[in-house]
Amino acid sequence: MPKSLISIHDFTKDEILHILDVAAEFEKNKSQKILDGKVVACIFFEPSTRTRLSFETASNRLGARVIGFSDTGNTSITKGETLKDTIKMVSNYVDIIVMRHPLEGAARYASEVASVPVVNAGDGANQHPSQTLLDLYTIKQTQNRLTDLTINMVGDLKYGRTVHSLLQAMSHFSPNYIFTAPDELKMPVEYKSFLEEKGIKYTETSQLTEHIDNTDILYMTRVQQERFSDPIEYEKVKDIYRLDAKMLTNVRSNMKILHPLPRINEIATNVDDTPYAYYFKQAENGMYVRMAIIAYLLGYK
Ligand code: CP
Repeated sequence: MPKSLISIHDFTKDEILHILDVAAEFEKNKSQKILDGKVVACIFFEPSTRTRLSFETASNRLGARVIGFSDTGNTSITKGETLKDTIKMVSNYVDIIVMRHPLEGAARYASEVASVPVVNAGDGANQHPSQTLLDLYTIKQTQNRLTDLTINMVGDLKYGRTVHSLLQAMSHFSPNYIFTAPDELKMPVEYKSFLEEKGIKYTETSQLTEHIDNTDILYMTRVQQERFSDPIEYEKVKDIYRLDAKMLTNVRSNMKILHPLPRINEIATNVDDTPYAYYFKQAENGMYVRMAIIAYLLGYK
């Protein structure tokens, strides 16, 4: 089975650091046609702006061609074709598959039936490892290190797959975590148990401003409306946090605000012009990191 990236655990610490180093080279030199003749499939069973477009741009900048779909409505999935058959077919056409799917575990399953590497571009509330690698790249870029940082994760820590992957990846680098969430959206027990087994400290709060002045990375997240089965439950928590520029008067000078985006209203637009806002540069970094991921999985070391 070819090496895939389904969970952040699929990459060792050394592999993660290698991807970050290669991404830095791609940031310096944005177009390197090392994948001339290769074809990348971007198959998205769920909506996306950044992940799909940055994977497609990354592929183009590497000289590869891109096929795929962003809407299953005009594919044979509407006729009842299974995920297994779809993946086996696409495997025969391309050199690597980038897939987003609403079901947890769908990406792992795809990697088991595919004959080419699969990159998980998000599977339900489970994992989003390429987002995690770009988050790590951005954290390193802003703090000049990955070790011993205080990471304050805010918002939907229950359904937010980006925080789940990031929590696991940062565990290599002795972080200190703050989890800011209402009771309904707290970090799931399995992730807290993971930290406890590793001896990594975390603090929980429901108050956005409680630890904001002792934070290096403020990782804001959107409440994941699409994961709620009960719309009334979503209405109760959808506006729970709204970061405003006036909350940032006493924060650390090195503090940076990240957000996987899209944002809804959890970061006021008056934050965008502060020196702490880094989420648009974070999204740009996704392109360099995804160039590094594709190149690595296709054997370009
Ligand atoms: N961060 C992220 O996954 O964004 P998209 O849903 O737009 O791809």
